[in-house]
Amino acid sequence: MRNKAGLNLETSFKASDQADMGQSELCWTANVFVFLLLLPGILGWGREGHYAVCKIAEGYLTEDALSMVRELLPASAEGDLAAVCSWADELRENHDYHWSSVLHFVDTPDFFCNYNCSRDCHDSHRHKGRCVTAAIYNYTMQLESAYKEITSEVRYNLTEALMFLSHFIGDVHQPLHVGFVGDLGGNLIKVGWYQRSTNLHHVWDTMIIESALKRFYHSNLMLMIQAIQSNISDEWHNEVSAWRNCTGNHTACPNPYASESISLACKYAYKNATPGSTLEDSYFLTRLPVVEKRLAQSGIRLASTLNRIFASEVKVAEV
Ligand SMILES: *[C@@H]1O[C@H](CO)[C@@H](O)[C@H](O)[C@H]1NC(C)=O
Ligand SMILES: *[C@@H]1O[C@H](CO)[C@@H](O)[C@H](O)[C@H]1NC(C)=O
Ligand SMILES: *[C@@H]1O[C@H](CO)[C@@H](O)[C@H](O)[C@H]1NC(C)=O
Ligand SMILES: *[C@@H]1O[C@H](CO)[C@@H](O)[C@H](O)[C@H]1NC(C)=O
Ligand SMILES: *[C@@H]1O[C@H](CO)[C@@H](O)[C@H](O)[C@H]1NC(C)=O
Ligand SMILES: *[C@@H]1O[C@H](CO)[C@@H](O)[C@H](O)[C@H]1NC(C)=O
Ligand SMILES: [Zn+2]
Repeated sequence: MRNKAGLNLETSFKASDQADMGQSELCWTANVFVFLLLLPGILGWGREGHYAVCKIAEGYLTEDALSMVRELLPASAEGDLAAVCSWADELRENHDYHWSSVLHFVDTPDFFCNYNCSRDCHDSHRHKGRCVTAAIYNYTMQLESAYKEITSEVRYNLTEALMFLSHFIGDVHQPLHVGFVGDLGGNLIKVGWYQRSTNLHHVWDTMIIESALKRFYHSNLMLMIQAIQSNISDEWHNEVSAWRNCTGNHTACPNPYASESISLACKYAYKNATPGSTLEDSYFLTRLPVVEKRLAQSGIRLASTLNRIFASEVKVAEV
């Protein structure tokens, strides 16, 4: 495998460091077919991460959005969006949903630290539009068109659309969900995490958050969420409106989020995480703030996206 990440990263990254912010190019083809594809170990933030993203988002929903969300949630969620934010990962066991496994991520060519939608958003068979940013547009469009009754013909399962969207906005913020194709976003980079052996992707999905919970939050996820929330209203207060930014006529803006992720992947995730290395405090303590900020940004942006989707006095969709 082309598992060279970590070697000479500094020099190989410079050539491609100009971030492509995606701009107005939606870069998404509608009528793609469904292909079965199994990739190992690609999940997204673990349960805790996704729970945190949706919990944070809930605090920033408008009244309109909150009531639509409650209407669309399955009964099992008991009105709590966070309860279903890992639903899209649980589907991996389900054969009927194998088509969705490629929608959790997007990869760039090896050692490219920018995201270019038309170059990168495809599955391993190069079917265009099979990637996380396209999925975010897709489910935004489904919810929006139903809410605004633009289309009457196609009826999507809007409960699923909401659960997919809430999950994928989290995923696109996990830096290694926009990683290099050759190592499958870090999945093929075996590393030690303190005493345990794992891979770099899993470190970013789960281990950093788990270790932080144990060390700093008495293993209490709500305490970690509260700490992130207080940074949002305090430390990061001045940045939050820029996080929400989605100019032009767009309801969703996933391309800049993917650009940020690959840039963070190069700068923090791959850096000093060579295959076979053991990652400990010096890695953990410098990467944790990156993870916590990405969780905050995901939550704010999920809320803003839902607020934009469910904004307007237009009538309520049929579910
Ligand atoms: C993105 O990739 C496409 C296809 O490879 C290329 O034509 C285009 O110039 C690239 N855009 C940027 C901004 O690099
Ligand atoms: C869009 O949503 C439909 C319904 O879930 C799904 O069949 C299709 O694969 C999705 N496409 C993308 C790119 O998300
Ligand atoms: C919509 O999707 C949810 C979750 O998969 C499922 O429980 C529900 O039965 C679906 N609704 C319809 C009308 O198919
Ligand atoms: C809060 O912000 C400070 C300053 O940026 C940072 O050091 C700390 O890790 C953040 N904590 C959380 C929980 O986000
Ligand atoms: C919002 O995004 C637009 C284009 O994507 C950019 O020109 C503008 O500077 C952004 N504003 C902020 C506050 O980031
Ligand atoms: C936004 O979209 C609407 C409807 O598609 C269009 O009429 C309007 O001109 C667009 N505005 C901008 C600034 O692109
Ligand atoms: Zn996922």
